[in-house]
Amino acid sequence: MKATVRAHPNIALVKYWGKRDEALILPHQSSLSLTLAPIHVTTTVEFGAPSDTVELHGHAAKGSERDRVLRLLDAVRVQAGRDLGPAKVVSRGDFPMAAGLASSAAGFAALAVAGRAAAGLPEDTRASSILARRGSGSACRSVQGGFCEWQRGERADGEDSYALQRFDAGHWADLRMVVAIVDRGEKEVKSRDGMKSTVETSPYYPAWVKDAEAEVPRARELIAKKDLEALGELCERNAWRMHSTSLAADPPLCYLSSATLGLIQHLREQRKKGVPVWFTLDAGPNPVLLTDAAHEVAAEALARACGAVDVVRCVPGGDATLLTEHLF
Ligand code: DP6
Repeated sequence: MKATVRAHPNIALVKYWGKRDEALILPHQSSLSLTLAPIHVTTTVEFGAPSDTVELHGHAAKGSERDRVLRLLDAVRVQAGRDLGPAKVVSRGDFPMAAGLASSAAGFAALAVAGRAAAGLPEDTRASSILARRGSGSACRSVQGGFCEWQRGERADGEDSYALQRFDAGHWADLRMVVAIVDRGEKEVKSRDGMKSTVETSPYYPAWVKDAEAEVPRARELIAKKDLEALGELCERNAWRMHSTSLAADPPLCYLSSATLGLIQHLREQRKKGVPVWFTLDAGPNPVLLTDAAHEVAAEALARACGAVDVVRCVPGGDATLLTEHLF
C-alpha cells in the first residue's frame, strides 16, 4: 500500500498553451518536450493512512494545492475500484522550485505513478500519463524519459490525450539544456491562469494552435536527425509565438523581464560568433538554453555574464521510476 517514485521535470520544445477542457486538462494542441536530468522530484504515497495528509517540499499543503493532489488520488481510487482508505503523501524536489521549470510536472508524474503502484495497479505508462495530465497538463510528458509528445487527442473523455515517448534519453545523449535563473521571484500570473486568459481574449490564439500543431512533427524530424541548429531555431520560434499570443491577451501578459531580453540579445551575439546556443522560455522570465555537451560551459558562462543568479545544467533524463527506499 506504499510506493515511492522519482520523476524528472521536462522542458517543452513545442509548448502546450491553452485548454479545451479545464476540468480534464485537455489541450487545444499537441506539444513535445525533453525530460531533464539530474533534477527530480521524489514522492511517496501510502493508502490506508489514519487521515489524508499531503506534505510538499517540507510544508503541509493547503487549499487548492492539497485539493489537486487528493483529486488525483481519487482518480486512482476509481481505477482501483475499491476503497483504499485515506492517503499520506510526501514529496520532495531537489531543484529551485521557482526556476520556472514546472516542478508540478515532475511532482504530478511521480504522484500518478506512485499512486497507481500504491493501489496495486500494474505499471502502465499510458494510464499514468493520463492520470498525471489530470494533475497538471505538462506532467503527462514526465512519466517517460527522453523526447515525449503529448497528443492532443479528439475524445471528450480525454482517454486519447496522453504523452508518447518518441525517442529515449540515449538517442541524443550530448544534447544539453541549461536553465538560466535570472529571477527567483514567483511569477505574477501562473501558467494555468495565463493560458486561460490567452484562450479567452487573445485574437492571435487560433493562429497559435494551428502553428504549434504543425511544429510538432517538424520538431520530431529534427530530433530524429539530431539537427541542433534547426531544432534551436524551431524552439525559439515556438517560444516567441507562445509569448506573442499571450502579449496579445487582454490584459496583456508579459512574462519576460529586462534580464530575459538582455540574455536573449547576448545569446544572439554569441551565436554570430559561432557558439551553438538557442533558448526557449516557459511562462516566466528564466530562459532555458539549448546547446550541446561541448558548449554547456560556454552557455553557463553566457548566462552568468547576463546576471543569472543560478544556473542548472541538464542532460536528457529517463523514465519515472519506482524506488525501494521511501520518504517515510
Ligand atoms: C508554458 O502544465 O503547468 O510550461 O495544465 O494548468 O497545470 P496546467 O499547466 P502547466 O503549463 C505548462 C505551460 C508551459 C508550456 C509547457 O510546459 O508545455
